[in-house]
Amino acid sequence: MPSKSDSILIVGAGVFGLSTALELKQRGYTNITVLDRYAPPAVDGSSVDISRIIRIDYVDPVYCQMAREAYQGWTSEYKDQYFESGFALLSETPKNDWIENSKATVLASGGTVEDLKDATQLLKLYPNIQSDLSGMNGYLNRRGGWADAAGSIQKLASRCSVEGVSILTGPRGSVVSLRKEGSRVVGVNVASGDSILASQVILSTGAWTNRLLNVAHAASSSGQPVGFIQLTPEEARSMEKTPVMINMTNGVFIFPPTPGSNILKIARHGYGYANKVTVQNDGTRTISSPKFETSNSQTGYLPDDADEDLRKGLQRFCPRFADRPWSFRRLCWYTNTPKGDFIIDHHPTMEGLFVATGGAGHGFKFLPVLGKYIADCFENKASKELRKKWRLEPVPSGSTGHPMKGDGSRAGPPLRNLTQVEKAML
Ligand SMILES: *[C@@H]1O[C@H](CO)[C@@H](O)[C@H](O)[C@H]1NC(C)=O
Ligand SMILES: *[C@@H]1O[C@H](CO)[C@@H](O)[C@H](O)[C@H]1NC(C)=O
Ligand SMILES: *[C@@H]1O[C@H](CO)[C@@H](O)[C@H](O)[C@H]1NC(C)=O
Repeated sequence: MPSKSDSILIVGAGVFGLSTALELKQRGYTNITVLDRYAPPAVDGSSVDISRIIRIDYVDPVYCQMAREAYQGWTSEYKDQYFESGFALLSETPKNDWIENSKATVLASGGTVEDLKDATQLLKLYPNIQSDLSGMNGYLNRRGGWADAAGSIQKLASRCSVEGVSILTGPRGSVVSLRKEGSRVVGVNVASGDSILASQVILSTGAWTNRLLNVAHAASSSGQPVGFIQLTPEEARSMEKTPVMINMTNGVFIFPPTPGSNILKIARHGYGYANKVTVQNDGTRTISSPKFETSNSQTGYLPDDADEDLRKGLQRFCPRFADRPWSFRRLCWYTNTPKGDFIIDHHPTMEGLFVATGGAGHGFKFLPVLGKYIADCFENKASKELRKKWRLEPVPSGSTGHPMKGDGSRAGPPLRNLTQVEKAML
């Protein structure tokens, strides 16, 4: 059991790391330092950019319940970052399994949804929708929408600072390896050449986790395409009061334009692209991970097929802007797990090491409550059910090729490895 005066190093200033830092500080831990390559909101983090879907719609009742708790936070503490636009889940085929099961879970939890046997009914509820929704069906949940991701992380980081959490960035914050003594982790080695010692190291390193620790059996990263289009204030106004919409048949989803900055965002919740790299930490291993040395959002590169698919998505969701040049594009790096469950656990064999990662493309919405769940696991107070769900299994011997398909909510083309030419453009 960690003690309150223990020095705790949290590696990674995304939603997992910062929410943990804040919660532990509030529980009385006195010596907490968060490390990251970049100051939060980290430019290429998976917790940032202009928006994330906030929804309570889940097949799994555990995440549905957590999302309902988080919703309380979004509508109070984080109300300035939250936009309740409504959330519509649509499908081209009748009775999409995920949509049906999610609807059942939401209803069972006391929520309400509006059936869309014919998705064109949405146009009556939201007259500014410019999409061609013919042939689609699904449901609408008015309780849901989106949050300003970077703004929420900014707020969380400044709350951490105010509470007395240290945040170190740049070469002093860029962790290149764990510092070990036998089977105990005693700190980290950073890019400046220094070591920082601590009694407890918490890895909340998201898509970069496999670079530091072999968790390839439990998590693997892939990049999902995101495109941004700058609208004029008039164009944005013409799309005001439209819901977030996801096409569960191909994974493509779209947000209403951001108020003030008028940016339209489209993305795909799919299987993504793997960036295979060889690392020398914890053995020589080939893993999929975004770059570490430089920012992954610098070049704005997307594979051609991803770009084309987002364009096709625009043609249906807002044909008017289908040919408008992107103002920015990026790959958003998911940390995929076999069933979409997070990994929140003390390391099974290394003392002094705790892991909080595996967001699996759905972690951000839990920002207001995630730290509480992580701290409960850290303090061994979480329910048996949650500890089992989020357990980090020991590395199995000799097995390779672990499918990381998530919770069944993904769609679109299967995972594919980026080619050498594509990797060079990242
Ligand atoms: C926090 O822990 C570190 C590492 O043990 C130690 O060097 C530092 O003095 C501690 N800081 C405080 C404020 O106790
Ligand atoms: C949803 O995806 C399917 C499959 O790619 C596509 O045929 C359909 O046009 C899409 N609908 C919308 C509204 O994007
Ligand atoms: C990606 O590359 C790895 C080798 O690094 C290989 O084992 C795997 O089968 C490839 N995946 C696909 C989907 O081609």
